[in-house]
Amino acid sequence: MPVIGFGTWQMNGEQAYDAIRWALAAGYRHIDTATAYKNEAEVGRAVRDSGLDRGELFITTKLPPGNAGRERQTLSDSLRALGTDYVDLWLIHWPPRRSGASERVWRAFLELRSEGLCRAVGVSNYSPEEIDALTGATGQVPQVNQVPWSLSQHDPALLAALRDRGVVVEGYSPLRGARLTAPALAGIAEAHGVSAAQVILRWHVQMGIVVIPKSVHRERIESNLDLFGFALTEAEMAQLSAA
Ligand SMILES: NC(=O)c1ccc[n+]([C@@H]2O[C@H](COP(=O)([O-])OP(=O)(O)OC[C@H]3O[C@@H](n4cnc5c(N)ncnc54)[C@H](OP(=O)(O)O)[C@@H]3O)[C@@H](O)[C@H]2O)c1
Repeated sequence: MPVIGFGTWQMNGEQAYDAIRWALAAGYRHIDTATAYKNEAEVGRAVRDSGLDRGELFITTKLPPGNAGRERQTLSDSLRALGTDYVDLWLIHWPPRRSGASERVWRAFLELRSEGLCRAVGVSNYSPEEIDALTGATGQVPQVNQVPWSLSQHDPALLAALRDRGVVVEGYSPLRGARLTAPALAGIAEAHGVSAAQVILRWHVQMGIVVIPKSVHRERIESNLDLFGFALTEAEMAQLSAA
């Protein structure tokens, strides 16, 4: 799973198509979409037109909890829109609230994984206890939990609890709501000759969190992937985590 992915929430139509083409041209090989984003067809078209081999790409999509009970149809619709035979990762977008529904959806996910329609299965917005309920019911741990992770919303205890369970942590909304001009952040960015957004995303990478920034602007798309020419010191990591 590439550690940086391209987020696609709140982009649709030609804007989504262009942004995903730019992302693929820039070197992103991991795309994060969802049934709820209504842009899987644009992802599929952009991938096809990029000329890249399917095997080079890591595509995630998600089942909305309202589709509980219709897992096979939902995945089949996603695959058709995406123009692919499988997704690399399929997530339960949020925990379904009806009693027992989460476990039932999880069993269906495992069955569809065994058929090869998704290579890996996981969850999003789940607590460790909600994950334990799925594992207890089936013996199968979700491979990923996609959760909010940003300077203003991160939780070392959650990270430790998920790692203890062998769950890969994927952080969403890394930049949403960030105060990119905050003096501490700006100071660190200036010291490394990078942008504040790059500092935040590098903080995720150094913490071992898979991160999926979204942008519809080509320069931002490119710079959000350009995170490997500098490294934050331990003191900077601590300062950012405490901000
Ligand atoms: N599982 C879930 O429940 C869930 C929930 C939320 C998000 N997600 C996933 O996570 C992805 C990322 O989260 P997100 O879309 O909420 O937000 P995000 O990636 O944290 O931030 C996107 C915002 O930051 C701006 N931005 C991006 N790069 C920038 C840069 N270099 N400098 C300044 N501003 C920049 C974007 O504006 P422009 O587009 O105008 O550049 C946009 O307003 C989503 O797209 C989606 O795939 C999942």
